[in-house]
Amino acid sequence: MPRWSAGPFSLIKAEMQPAYETPQFTTSRSDAPAIEAGLIAVPVFQGQREQVDWVNQATNGEMGAAFDRAEFNGKAYEMWAAHPSGWRTSRLLLVGAGPEREFDAERARRIGACVGLASRSQKQQRIAVLLSDAWSEPHIEALAEGATLANYDNGHYKSKHDGRFFVSAIEIVTGHDIATAVERGQRLGEAINAARLLINEPGNRLTPREFVSRGEALVSVPGVTVETLDEHRMEELGMGLLLGVARGSTEPPRMLVARYEPVGAPATPVLGLVGKGVTFDTGGISIKPADGMERMKDDMAGGATVIAALRAIALERLPIRVIAIVPATENMPGGRATKPGDVHQSASGITVEINNTDAEGRLILGDGLWYAKELGATHLIDVATLTGAVVVALGKTTTGLFGTEGWGEIVEAAARRSGEKVWPMPLFDDYREALKSEIADLLNSPGRAAGAITAAMFLKEFVGTTPWAHLDIAGTAWAEDARAWTVKGATGVMVRTLVEVARSAGKNWP
Ligand code: BES
Ligand code: MN
Ligand code: ZN
Repeated sequence: MPRWSAGPFSLIKAEMQPAYETPQFTTSRSDAPAIEAGLIAVPVFQGQREQVDWVNQATNGEMGAAFDRAEFNGKAYEMWAAHPSGWRTSRLLLVGAGPEREFDAERARRIGACVGLASRSQKQQRIAVLLSDAWSEPHIEALAEGATLANYDNGHYKSKHDGRFFVSAIEIVTGHDIATAVERGQRLGEAINAARLLINEPGNRLTPREFVSRGEALVSVPGVTVETLDEHRMEELGMGLLLGVARGSTEPPRMLVARYEPVGAPATPVLGLVGKGVTFDTGGISIKPADGMERMKDDMAGGATVIAALRAIALERLPIRVIAIVPATENMPGGRATKPGDVHQSASGITVEINNTDAEGRLILGDGLWYAKELGATHLIDVATLTGAVVVALGKTTTGLFGTEGWGEIVEAAARRSGEKVWPMPLFDDYREALKSEIADLLNSPGRAAGAITAAMFLKEFVGTTPWAHLDIAGTAWAEDARAWTVKGATGVMVRTLVEVARSAGKNWP
């Protein structure tokens, strides 16, 4: 068999540069003039000029003048740079933190990312961030996370590497005791960057086998055991939906199963995280239009998210059992591909008429959710780039949340605490009507109306009475535009929400 048919096909010769680097953090209570760094960043709340009056003298009145001329007023992510005199550091960067009453973890994370990106573009390797007392531990955790996220570079397939630059050391100047917060933020940022790298990978590099083997490496941390199912094991288990999607590809499917079982953790609850792992979605025989199809390399974002979350949960040693499951496959229109009208049976026994092979995510998640329950999950969350319809409904900033009573609220509260936007969508019984098939138990593609909801209703058929929540990240997994706080591409959205859910283990869980 020719070599190119046996694995990820890539003859890329260039030394792969690391896509990200995790900065080291230290904390101090130093006075600005004594700090030795390439750059000192100071977040300033909007209109609170008095907060930074003390730097006015070092900038020979320039700072006050900047306020007077309205060049800088502390508006969120606004930046103003100066060269202070008499300091050991030659660069000062004021960063707008927006109105103080709006200040939260998300703002703090973005400020951290702004500072990181600005420092990288100014080629500053060692930086310091001076924080006022308004910055408490959760804000500082988010800042450290944001600064770590800023140390991610998309260009690692460029054969010339000039211009690549990472921040290596960040001194956080604060009166608070923040060692734990910084460590958590750094760990989360690193896990999210790992997810982003997988999500950004082209489909020829990241086949299902390559995806799970890199996933296995990421969860190879104390307390985690991992086992990957191949196509033969899937057949034994009767996973006809996952195998049905995989039929169109010459790449075999895989299912990554990772279990975090910390010593001494209670037997229940067991949090089951299931992530969609379609390494490329052509649509299959119901093929997608060419325009924009390249984006579909990110259709495994949900899978990368649950892998990264499990890694962060285990490294944080949270006292809760967690199972992460990632059904991984390509969705291709090969000669043996599933055809519209075909019927497949799930491992749980449900039969599905497949009227549209592009509605493949719900199929592989059906078998994934079933297996999570089979392995003892008592509380389920799935994460998936599932529907274009959720983008129509909520746009590109807000993740669609669907959930059973009591559990959906827990996930929503965790998202709010971690500064990620989710919005609850309904799962009224009326919507089930659309899933009826003439010839099988379910129809996989019920049409345009309420498309995000009917997709969720389909998943619900596989969870029985187990508390379950579904996060549709089709709109939020990918940033179409660079902003002051982020580059284009994979966002790593929902990793921190999942970790936050795990941190809330047992508290008011249904
Ligand atoms: N992976 C897509 C959903 C998607 C669309 C993600 C746009 C990101 C951006 C999914 O597999 C899909 O193709 N869904 C179809 C479902 C339809 C056929 C019922 C869709 O949304 O069009
Ligand atoms: Mn699809
Ligand atoms: Zn898809």
